[in-house]
Amino acid sequence: MPTILITGTSRGLGLECARQYAEAGWTVLACARNPAASPPLQALASTHSGRVKTLSLDVEDHAAIDRLARELDGTAIDVLLNSAGTMGNGSFAKDGLAFGSFGRSDYEDWETIFRLNVFGPMKMAEAFIGHVARSNQKKIVTLTSMLGSVGINRIGGLYAYRASKAAVNAMMKSMAIDLAKSHGIAATALHPGWVRTDLGGPQADIDSETSVAGMLKVIDALTLETAGRFWVYDGSELPW
Ligand SMILES: NC(=O)c1ccc[n+]([C@@H]2O[C@H](COP(=O)([O-])OP(=O)(O)OC[C@H]3O[C@@H](n4cnc5c(N)ncnc54)[C@H](OP(=O)(O)O)[C@@H]3O)[C@@H](O)[C@H]2O)c1
Repeated sequence: MPTILITGTSRGLGLECARQYAEAGWTVLACARNPAASPPLQALASTHSGRVKTLSLDVEDHAAIDRLARELDGTAIDVLLNSAGTMGNGSFAKDGLAFGSFGRSDYEDWETIFRLNVFGPMKMAEAFIGHVARSNQKKIVTLTSMLGSVGINRIGGLYAYRASKAAVNAMMKSMAIDLAKSHGIAATALHPGWVRTDLGGPQADIDSETSVAGMLKVIDALTLETAGRFWVYDGSELPW
């Protein structure tokens, strides 16, 4: 069976992706900042013992990413899934679009958001390209957001998060072009929908099970021809 490496599996969408890929029989390399601090991740690992392997990884720590890539040297990774992400210190669930509004920029928070949401997936792709290239499926997927679409932004706000996901989109588009040619890898950005997680808040449209079931189908269908697009969990597409 294939292997997937997922970042941010302690909770939210990363955890649900780990669960659904494990249930589908995949080997799951489940990365989290502190796996021991996530009881659901520990439970998943013991349910699928041997096939769900938990690994400590802070995606903001590039030396740690390089170390893990070296530890996994020789392992084929069919799908590299960058799920870890943040909206920063504020709470979208509490403050909605008012959070991160004009005139109230916290530049340290901008840096954290960019380190995790943008530099993290870029560094993961650069560190693990060899592992993905030696696999059968050869896919790199980064979770983006509809809030990163410049084309459909009618309501403003959320500067840092929007900018970080627009950057993810630009990055995944370039990766799709470059890595198809150099390694036969299909890379894309994927919007999970507005999902009821800590990040999405309780008012969001859908639950993680629905989002992830859809994302698995989109990732499964991803080819070199359909790479480099702004996919949505339900198989539709968004404008950049
Ligand atoms: N939920 C939505 O509605 C929605 C919509 C569009 C896009 N997205 C995107 O989907 C992805 C997952 O979001 P989510 O809703 O699952 O968020 P979440 O429930 O807040 O979970 C965030 C995950 O990221 C991890 N993380 C935070 N900082 C990290 C770091 N430095 N290194 C490694 N992991 C770190 C967290 O781990 P800890 O437990 O250690 O903090 C946690 O596992 C994000 O990229 C987000 O932008 C979500």
